[in-house]
Amino acid sequence: MHLEAIQLNKHFPTRNGSPIVALKDINLHVEGGEFVCAVGASGSGKSTLLRLIAGLDRPTSGEVRVDGVRVTGPGADRGMVFQNYSLYPWMTVMENVAFGLKLRGMAAQQQQQAAAYYLEVVGLTKFAKSLPKELSGGMKQRVAIARALASQPKILLMDEPFGALDVQTKEIMQQFLLEVWRRTQTSIFMITHDVEEAVFLAQRIYVLTAHPGTVQREILIDLPSERDYHIKRQPRFQDHKEEIMDLLRGREAVVLA
Ligand SMILES: Nc1ncnc2c1ncn2[C@@H]1O[C@H](COP(=O)(O)OP(=O)(O)OP(=O)(O)O)[C@@H](O)[C@H]1O
Ligand SMILES: [Mg+2]
Repeated sequence: MHLEAIQLNKHFPTRNGSPIVALKDINLHVEGGEFVCAVGASGSGKSTLLRLIAGLDRPTSGEVRVDGVRVTGPGADRGMVFQNYSLYPWMTVMENVAFGLKLRGMAAQQQQQAAAYYLEVVGLTKFAKSLPKELSGGMKQRVAIARALASQPKILLMDEPFGALDVQTKEIMQQFLLEVWRRTQTSIFMITHDVEEAVFLAQRIYVLTAHPGTVQREILIDLPSERDYHIKRQPRFQDHKEEIMDLLRGREAVVLA
């Protein structure tokens, strides 16, 4: 898997005069099995970027390519998870997970098998017959992740998936997502405004600026890929976090000799 955004620009017209430049000359890539985050303040074009990669919206110029093929619309090669669960409330957990497979015409028995497997991956086998309203926020997000994984996408695209969760649930979900990533070896591209979340999860981070949305810096996270929350206390973790916070505040990190 090789995903790349090449010289992506996205303008939104305004009623009076000059358009909003939501994204300006964005270049980025994600390789097979990588976990990459983009962090940026509100308005830096994070959701716009993810929608372009997902094919839900068209760039003003530039292009997104997956394995060399230009993205012209949504596709099963890219699984999406949004902040707001987006489960079908009238379907059971199992039906939600199997839905994409059903749309693709998979036979009922195989749908069940695949959905059951991914429910097991996210630890919700016991809730297969529940309705979304019977689940907590974190559980709903795990269903959304299982649903996205069930179609076996080349890459999982996530837009602030844990943004609506409380701090404790969020930590559990971050740890959980790392485990799912390790187990499935799916590439993940996640958007977040939470710097600590990005450093905890990613192997590589793109730091975005706002107005216009550009890539300010690409940062390699120098931490082991096996991580648990204790790592947040390590000096190297803190250094990465501060470096990114400083970039977002609009100034370079002060290097103390
Ligand atoms: N459909 C649209 N029509 C007009 N302007 C838009 C549209 N979508 C986004 N924008 C503008 O593009 C810019 C980037 O918006 P976007 O939602 O991508 O930011 P974001 O980084 O996801 O912000 P947040 O952290 O608040 O979710 C903003 O200035 C926004 O007003
Ligand atoms: Mg957004």
